[in-house]
Amino acid sequence: MKVKLRNPDRVEEVAGPATVARVLETLGINPETVLVICDGELKTKDAVLADDAEVEVRPVISGGAGPARCHACTRSAVIEIPRNRAAYCAEHFVDHVRGQVREAIDRHRMMSYDDRILVAVSGGKDSLALWDVLLDMGYRADGLYLGLGIGGYSDRSGTIVREFAERRGATLHSVDLAEEYGFDIPQASSLRTRSSCGVCGLSKRYVFNRIAVEHGYDVMATGHNLDDEAATLLGNVLRWQTPFLARQSVALPATEDGMARKVKPLYRLGEREMAAYCVIKGIDYVVEECPMVGGNTVLRYKGALNELERHSPGTKAAFLFGFLDRVQPAHFGEADAEAGELVACSECGMPTSHHGDGPAVCAFCRTRSRLVKVATA
Ligand code: AMP
Ligand code: FES
Ligand code: ZN
Ligand code: ZN
Repeated sequence: MKVKLRNPDRVEEVAGPATVARVLETLGINPETVLVICDGELKTKDAVLADDAEVEVRPVISGGAGPARCHACTRSAVIEIPRNRAAYCAEHFVDHVRGQVREAIDRHRMMSYDDRILVAVSGGKDSLALWDVLLDMGYRADGLYLGLGIGGYSDRSGTIVREFAERRGATLHSVDLAEEYGFDIPQASSLRTRSSCGVCGLSKRYVFNRIAVEHGYDVMATGHNLDDEAATLLGNVLRWQTPFLARQSVALPATEDGMARKVKPLYRLGEREMAAYCVIKGIDYVVEECPMVGGNTVLRYKGALNELERHSPGTKAAFLFGFLDRVQPAHFGEADAEAGELVACSECGMPTSHHGDGPAVCAFCRTRSRLVKVATA
């Protein structure tokens, strides 16, 4: 069939019969932005167009001749956010990111201007952007980088974080897992009880909390974004991991027995938005993924959610925000109380949940002593 397109005027040949939806997809056109007309009649997405049809695809967005316009100032836009049906110029996009962080902080009472905040910064786009936003907003935010010993990947990450801290004149704590605790993440692949990624996650949680508590920070912030949190939620729902659903939160309170308050101020912003923020603000970040991440199930969940999002923008946000605002408090509020009491680990003194008799040793110390044995064997 012949498909007449505008801006600029041109005619494309598309094989038929095919539905309107299929034809638009083939041409890479968002159905929300056009009308499809055949024989003087409007056609809906499911209508089938014959191979010999003559079809017109007419743009309907006002001012739509040419590039998208910023919703705040009508200058030409640099990024579109389909879930908000919005587009922004560079300046107003930065405002949008700050606005979403503001909303997250206020809605969940994450931090105040008096708080001392420790941001865990990996060298990736999310955590560097988070640190940058918090500093721009006037928060007292220091950084923490944990060296995991994953070859060149860790070396490059460390350099990028140090350079960012220097450029912003911000305080950075650096902890090297091997120097401080005697093992690194690649060595963890020798363990049968936990995957390297599992040991990595355990080590991060432990070190982040320990540094925050030891240095008297009020809040510990990480760069988890909307995609991360929605994917984790999907994983937990698919297997009905109720204890994890009870604990999945964007703002966990501090406990008297040594757990710092933990917040995720980027949970309202997608991965793509954080990458765009870094590009716009000229923030250099490590684009490569961790080489040990292969076959990660979270990546599969992200892929599935992105596929749903492509067809109905806003799905991811509705899924996560609905859980946080309605489902979790109503259905999982009690479950957390069952998590058990925290006691001090007999080796490191950090809090751990204790079941049964004998001295309590935290999961990090148990894993560490196994790994140090392997490393020195
Ligand atoms: P990930 O666990 O890699 O998905 O990262 C989640 C968040 O943890 C990041 O946004 C950072 O805030 C933090 N993070 C991850 N890796 C490191 C690291 N090596 N050093 C400091 N913070 C990190
Ligand atoms: Fe933890 Fe890759 S960053 S295993
Ligand atoms: Zn603008
Ligand atoms: Zn311990």
